[in-house]
Amino acid sequence: MAYETIIVEVEDHVAVIKLNRPDALNALNSQLLGELASALKDASANEKVRCIVLTGSAKAFAAGADIKEMSEKSFVDVFTQDLFGNEATAILDVRKPVIAAVAGYALGGGCELAMMCDFIIAADNAKFGQPEINLGVVAGIGGTQRLTRAVGKSKSMDMHLTGRFMDANEAERAGIVSRVVPAKSLMEEALAAAGKIAEKSMITSRAVKEAVNRSFETPLAEGLLFERRLFHAMFACEDQKEGMGAFLEKRAPQFRDR
Ligand code: CAA
Repeated sequence: MAYETIIVEVEDHVAVIKLNRPDALNALNSQLLGELASALKDASANEKVRCIVLTGSAKAFAAGADIKEMSEKSFVDVFTQDLFGNEATAILDVRKPVIAAVAGYALGGGCELAMMCDFIIAADNAKFGQPEINLGVVAGIGGTQRLTRAVGKSKSMDMHLTGRFMDANEAERAGIVSRVVPAKSLMEEALAAAGKIAEKSMITSRAVKEAVNRSFETPLAEGLLFERRLFHAMFACEDQKEGMGAFLEKRAPQFRDR
């Protein structure tokens, strides 16, 4: 399918989805969110794809929801449409691992989109923020909830109330990003991480996603039980025999997603 606001490339089991509205710093308009949802669906269905990397440009991952598109909308418009209740969260339905490779601005909806990915690799020029308060609104795609879970109340309040930006190092210290890399090697690092993930059993990587994501929804005892039962379930899979057998035979495992 031909897209106008994103570029999709599949190579070596990794789908790279690049947000591509350079004139608007990749602001998330309805066309982009629709195309992104469709590309994520395709990547989910494509058996060749084992990991997805979502990225933007050197200047902006995404500078937020498109302000021009929403500025004149009324409450009835956004409530009726349930603005950002559907396609903007399509990434949460993807069962394959999704890495956000973030350079430049990841603001508002851009920060929220990155946080919905499984983990974030940040270029050293990345800037994260929830500046919606400057526009007279609050975050609308999960910022007040996901940022708070990632960095705690004090820093989340600071970000949302002042609208200030966090640089990549602060974001790493605060736990939003998993690693910071030089801007020029961002894609190399993200693709290397995606390549490593692509070598694993997809049964196991899906189970990892389900277990980690469950930790946000359950009390500890329930989460621990869920994890242990998933661990037990892995013993029904050929890939557990292959993984443990390969270790004992001192060779690399050949997972078959079974
Ligand atoms: N929506 C629409 N257009 C945007 C945009 C956005 N979120 N962010 C940037 N642009 C556009 C600008 O309007 C400008 O377009 P024109 O050339 O046609 O005027 C172009 O992108 C370049 O932007 P700037 O000239 O502003 O670039 P800069 O380098 O001076 O500043 C910036 C960069 C600090 C990121 C600044 O663009 C900015 O503050 N953008 C808005 C950030 C923001 O408030 N994001 C939150 C949006 S609301 C939201 O996301 C709600 C939610 O939670 C769902």
